[in-house]
Amino acid sequence: MGKVEGGGRALSLAMAVVLIFAGRAAAQTPRDALAQTPPMGWNSWNKFECNVSEELIKSVADAIALNGMKEAGYRYVVIDDCWQVTRDGDGNIVADSKRFPSGMKALADYIHADGLKLGIYSDAGAETCQGRPGSQGHEFQDALMYAKWGVDYLKYDWCKTDTRNAQEAYTTINGALLASGRPIVLSICEWGTNKPWQWGKGVGNLWRTTADISDKWQGKRNWPDGSCCELGMVDILDLQVGLESFAGPGHWNDPDMLEVGNGGMSAGEYRAHFSLWALLAAPLMAGNDVRSMTPEIREILTNKEVIAVNQDALGREGRRVRKDGDLEVWSKVLSDGSRAVILLNRGSSESEIGVRWEEIGYPNHIPAKVRDLWAHKDAGQFTGSYKTTVASHGVVMVRVAP
Ligand code: GLA
Repeated sequence: MGKVEGGGRALSLAMAVVLIFAGRAAAQTPRDALAQTPPMGWNSWNKFECNVSEELIKSVADAIALNGMKEAGYRYVVIDDCWQVTRDGDGNIVADSKRFPSGMKALADYIHADGLKLGIYSDAGAETCQGRPGSQGHEFQDALMYAKWGVDYLKYDWCKTDTRNAQEAYTTINGALLASGRPIVLSICEWGTNKPWQWGKGVGNLWRTTADISDKWQGKRNWPDGSCCELGMVDILDLQVGLESFAGPGHWNDPDMLEVGNGGMSAGEYRAHFSLWALLAAPLMAGNDVRSMTPEIREILTNKEVIAVNQDALGREGRRVRKDGDLEVWSKVLSDGSRAVILLNRGSSESEIGVRWEEIGYPNHIPAKVRDLWAHKDAGQFTGSYKTTVASHGVVMVRVAP
């Protein structure tokens, strides 16, 4: 009898534990659960545009599995626009059989065997930005097909959407993906026009905040038809200011994919780009040819101390805390109470930049350890402030820990 009563108590305790965890899970949307930290991976568009094939995707996956990127946290290998050519008589989406002769299921199996995940691309309109079939009117059919193939991530673009309502369009594809029964990360690629940060939580895991990035430090260029546009790295950075409160575990602002290693910026500029995206809790989607990058570029993309800032469990996006002309200070609160701080020099000559503790939420009288995340060295203990010289178009990124 005693035994039975004891068993009953153990059972109720177990039930209570289950209920507590269920309560916690319920506080989170099923969507949020798929990307508790910013997604990391690679996407074909920035380097290869429409020149995608199963050979490319497989060789990129193999490279990521072996070159330290997988170990550093990169997971999603995403095929952007142009993998799809038509729909069959039943309306099913059809991959380009010349470029993907083994089919998408075989490709997903291959990527999964590398310990990685497969991403794919579609569009909320009738056609994608490159004129391939979009998903409008086929959302549930497409989601089921992706699930059948073993797709893990969908980037969903916004071309040819005419008068379609953005929130409705992304809510529809979210419902379709969740109904497919396969966990598929949803990347909202709506370019920020309809303020996706205001409605994207619970709908997608990340939402583009701007028009497309281009491989340069600064400078905006309109599309050939006069519409907006390609942006330089710091132009995109400026457009993130004020959006930080909308991001959190499962739902991230996306300032677009990385250009690190594509050749248009210097190594110092790429270090700045990578540091800033990490601090913004941005998805880290490499966009270069990772099969043939230099050791210098590989070291940027796999800097574990910088990636740890991006992947910090608290999931707080960093923000700009000061702008003095070309000299800026950015800070991100981390789960252990420390701060990641970037001293950014946008000017054309080397300059000294300092950060005061009270700017990053500490009293000035306390001592704190400062560690340089690119030099991989402790800079020492400082009270009240830290300052150092920063190269033109460069950053110093540190962790400040009281
Ligand atoms: C849009 C997106 C890009 C890319 C292209 C593909 O411009 O913003 O990231 O996906 O379409 O056509």
